[in-house]
Amino acid sequence: MINSLNDRIELNNGTAIPGLGLGVFQIPDEETADVVAKGIKQGYRLIDTAQVYDNEKGTGEGIRRGLTENNLQREDLFITSKIWNDHLTYDETISSANDSLQKLGLDYLDLYLIHWPGDNSYKDSYLALEQLYKEGKIKAIGVSNFQIHHLEELAKFATVTPVLDQVESHPKLIQTELRDYVAKHDIKIQAWSPLMQGKILKNATLQNIAEERGKSVAQVILRWDIQRNVLLVVKSVHTERMQSNADVFDFKLDQAEMDQINAINENLRVGPNPDEFDF
Ligand SMILES: NC(=O)c1ccc[n+]([C@@H]2O[C@H](COP(=O)([O-])OP(=O)(O)OC[C@H]3O[C@@H](n4cnc5c(N)ncnc54)[C@H](OP(=O)(O)O)[C@@H]3O)[C@@H](O)[C@H]2O)c1
Repeated sequence: MINSLNDRIELNNGTAIPGLGLGVFQIPDEETADVVAKGIKQGYRLIDTAQVYDNEKGTGEGIRRGLTENNLQREDLFITSKIWNDHLTYDETISSANDSLQKLGLDYLDLYLIHWPGDNSYKDSYLALEQLYKEGKIKAIGVSNFQIHHLEELAKFATVTPVLDQVESHPKLIQTELRDYVAKHDIKIQAWSPLMQGKILKNATLQNIAEERGKSVAQVILRWDIQRNVLLVVKSVHTERMQSNADVFDFKLDQAEMDQINAINENLRVGPNPDEFDF
């Protein structure tokens, strides 16, 4: 379990990932540099972007500013990007990764993910990821929004096991079966929209626990994820929220509280169901 934003969890290929990172989904490119630089100043060491977010240039500028202003080295940061659904051929995956590297101004990505499985059209893309990994342009490869059946299909041809599956997860979608499956295969889960994009912050159970603990609902949720060994990417553009979302290492939820939060589950999504997403 992590004890700070700097703490890393070892992945199945020997690389290590910060347990709690900053996502930049839905931030316009021209605003992203400021957000990323602020995040790094607040101690975030993992930045999560994607080809489709169209803010890799701003992310790259923010990374350069963050490195200089905080006297950090490239290896102090962990940068993730993802390939979008309409680029899943082998050649387009290679050129997309190179394009992302160029926009970010980086020599390598720490993690590159297939953003969505689509209608099982990810095989060529995954083989390209393996090639990029072998060349050292990507330090770890993974997937996103893969259900168990996608992971089973992938296992039939993959020569490199994905290090993680980044999926929607929050108290209304606790992903029990998927978590059990990946645990058996040495793959981590990383939660996206851990705060359900803000839509779960008025939940009465969470509000009660937050009040008793003297913490915010967001802090309680992030702490619950940390204690259940789920990696996280959370997004905020506001310095105070970045700070408070990172202030989750000075308290511990007890088992009764963990159980109460687990019981909020309704298998409810804020984003698309990977099996129904229309590409
Ligand atoms: N792989 C995928 O398919 C996928 C899909 C979605 C997201 N993601 C990744 O996951 C990251 C996080 O997910 P997300 O951005 O969708 O949702 P999220 O992190 O659950 O929630 C972000 C929303 O909550 C607000 N917020 C953040 N901290 C708060 C706090 N302490 N109190 C009140 N409101 C707070 C933010 O507003 P402000 O910014 O105004 O503070 C924003 O509106 C993304 O940025 C992206 O990197 C991946």
